[in-house]
Amino acid sequence: MAQRIYLDRKWRFNKEFSEDMINSPMEKSTLVNLPHSVVETLLSYFDESIYQMVSGYQKSIFAPTQWENQLVSLVFEGVGHSCDVYVNGKHLKHHDCGYTAFSMDITKVLKYGEENLITVKVDSRETLNQPPFGYVIDYMTYGGIYRDVYFEVKEKIHFKDVHIQPSLLERVSTSKRTPKQIKMMNVQGIIKTECSMPKRIYKLVAAERVFIRQYLDDSLLISQPVGGLEEREDGYYLSLTSAPSTVKLWDVESPSLYTVKTQLLVDDKVIDEDTVTVGFRSSEFRKNGYFLNGRRLKLRGLNRHQSYPYVGYAMPESMQRLDAKILKEELALNAVRTSHYPQSHYFLDECDKLGLLVFTEIPGWQHIGDESWQDIAVKNTEEMVIQYRNHPSVILWGVRINESPDNDKFYARTNEVAHKFDPTRPTGGVRCIAKSSLLEDVYTYNDFVHSGKNKGCAKKADITSDEEKPYLISEYNGHMYPTKPFDDEEQRQEHAIRHANVLDAIAAEPDISGGFGWCMFDYNTHKDFGSGDRICYHGVMDMFRNPKLAASVYAAFSDTETVLDVTTSFDIGEHPACNRGKSYIISNADSVKMYKNDVLIKEYFPTDSSFENLKHGPILINDFVGDAVETDGEFTKGQAKLIKRALNEVTLKGFRPTPTLAWLAFRLVVLHRVNPKKAVSIYNKFIGDWGGESREYKFEAIKNGEVVKTVTKAAVTSAHIEVKPSHTLLTELHTYDVANIRIRIVDQNDNQLFYFTRPVSFAVEGPFEIVGPKVVTPAGGATGVYIKSIGEDGDGKLTISCEGLETVTISLSVECLTK
Ligand code: GAL
Repeated sequence: MAQRIYLDRKWRFNKEFSEDMINSPMEKSTLVNLPHSVVETLLSYFDESIYQMVSGYQKSIFAPTQWENQLVSLVFEGVGHSCDVYVNGKHLKHHDCGYTAFSMDITKVLKYGEENLITVKVDSRETLNQPPFGYVIDYMTYGGIYRDVYFEVKEKIHFKDVHIQPSLLERVSTSKRTPKQIKMMNVQGIIKTECSMPKRIYKLVAAERVFIRQYLDDSLLISQPVGGLEEREDGYYLSLTSAPSTVKLWDVESPSLYTVKTQLLVDDKVIDEDTVTVGFRSSEFRKNGYFLNGRRLKLRGLNRHQSYPYVGYAMPESMQRLDAKILKEELALNAVRTSHYPQSHYFLDECDKLGLLVFTEIPGWQHIGDESWQDIAVKNTEEMVIQYRNHPSVILWGVRINESPDNDKFYARTNEVAHKFDPTRPTGGVRCIAKSSLLEDVYTYNDFVHSGKNKGCAKKADITSDEEKPYLISEYNGHMYPTKPFDDEEQRQEHAIRHANVLDAIAAEPDISGGFGWCMFDYNTHKDFGSGDRICYHGVMDMFRNPKLAASVYAAFSDTETVLDVTTSFDIGEHPACNRGKSYIISNADSVKMYKNDVLIKEYFPTDSSFENLKHGPILINDFVGDAVETDGEFTKGQAKLIKRALNEVTLKGFRPTPTLAWLAFRLVVLHRVNPKKAVSIYNKFIGDWGGESREYKFEAIKNGEVVKTVTKAAVTSAHIEVKPSHTLLTELHTYDVANIRIRIVDQNDNQLFYFTRPVSFAVEGPFEIVGPKVVTPAGGATGVYIKSIGEDGDGKLTISCEGLETVTISLSVECLTK
């Protein structure tokens, strides 16, 4: 039976490759584990040339004699970017894509019962003639063997590939059902399977010695002799169809998964077995929107790069899965675009598990190279589709180079390949040109029209070249409003509001299938982009995945978690001329009560939001006074009403003679006889936040009549460190594990201290290593640290300290399940 043997541990690595490494053990080298990055970088201000090199990796492996009559393949899940693999001195494979897997048959070159030398030459220079290289790129393209490597040992008769195509026998509609009902719903499923097998199977089939069996979870679906093989140029194909009686739907609300186990038997003995995790769903892009299981669903997603601080692309399973969890559970999204290349299967597995829809695409950025470059892109398309088509979460293939010009000849090829290898899913292709040539099934467009004051997105009819085809926004915002976590309050708030503006605009356009904001988190980039420090501050989170204000706009879509965020600290000195201007409440509660020094000022409801198309859009705070003037006793009812309006007008718009303010002042002075000399004292008494009693604003989120969350904004009197570890039990399976610890410096009310800059230090005890520096400076009051296990079981701790703050310790453990 087939077995997979991971080879992630103990590679020798040398930053310089030389030919003599092909045949003999490397002399100068360091011992590394995979995933590995050719360099560890700084967080910012480092040059993209540092990861560009031709390096060597080497590993010696014992091949047991039991393997002698089997088929042994060597599989690399991802190597940045071009590589040559040698086994026992023999060149076996050249591969030109940093983002897809590749494998090779090493049966004939292995020495059984002996050690074997695997040498990998890895070229991570950006001068390579392959996607995404050739011109500028707005992200770093780190090098190294950064995903898993393994042996696959199989019988000579085996499945080369098994493509499972589950679908629904009949159209279902979930439109009027609650998430709970969708979860309970049973549907009639159907499974089409296409197995490819090596040519040598034919004789056995003819002799009727081969049998096929298929199970859905534990129930037997198919048991029959293999007959009727279709001969194609690369082997024999077998098509199967089975119809399990009823299954539960895979949906964003309830992603029910099943395993389909397909077995190949010769003379009654199982000789190969392939297990695929599937979901039964119908997914359709129609000209009037996207439909999942017959229900219209507005796609609400963000773009995700696969990069991390310090180690580039090289992060293990748990960190890949964490990003999917953050997108679905913290940001309440239903979709993600894996910009601008296929990403880790661990990330996709988690999307399958959580019900996060995926738009994945071929590598590339704006530039189209020469013919051989294009040939590689076509190959990349084939590899992407074959390698990712079994994931139920994938709903769309991106088969154009992101934002490239039209090129019908080239894109006819990528479209054809995608359709050939997956007849079940549509193609898209991301462009930034309106009315461009449309060979794909869905017009996917980067809409950067929103500049703050105008509408959030263009109309489909104004962009697409074929209104009969579906339309999707693949990017918005991003470079239109880069926002650092340490930018001032107005910038951070405007960033959040712009995301809300676009979401609101998309929600109002029924024929737009949805949108993917740019982007999930800040990322390191080339000199041509970003803020000069090699960072693009386009994320709704920072590089450590700490949320910015804009993250709350997305989080407020959650049906399960209560969100309450207030866009201001109420410190007027943060604003020019002390005019705070507009501030918002971001919440998905039934209502939010706002208090000033424990006196209720106003209760806000979702309907108070001016974002008409959002269920829970940001709500403008338009009352800072409440009943205070009226109950004060000094003024008549009429005077109090006008004073309140004047005070709110000044608070929102500053001390500017707006027409409204002039009209209110006229009425107060001339008609209601209020002495204009009292203006300053009235302001100081009811609004002015300096001198006197210190002010405290409290916000209570109410759900079902209960206070479920509170935010209090008051003068800062103390600070502390708040930590959010991804997990504290690190598990080593076939390689090291990493935990992410998100860190915020917050005040006595847990409000982030955006301008806190004192250094924070890390120390570990136990079987751990700190990834990156041991002393960092928080940016925007937040930072993070990654802790890596080192291959030993045990307990330990991480200590986080900062001058003047209480030290925080986190207990950590490692469990090694295999060594
Ligand atoms: C787009 C591009 C993205 C990113 C973004 C920034 O043009 O596709 O990769 O650079 O701009 O807003």
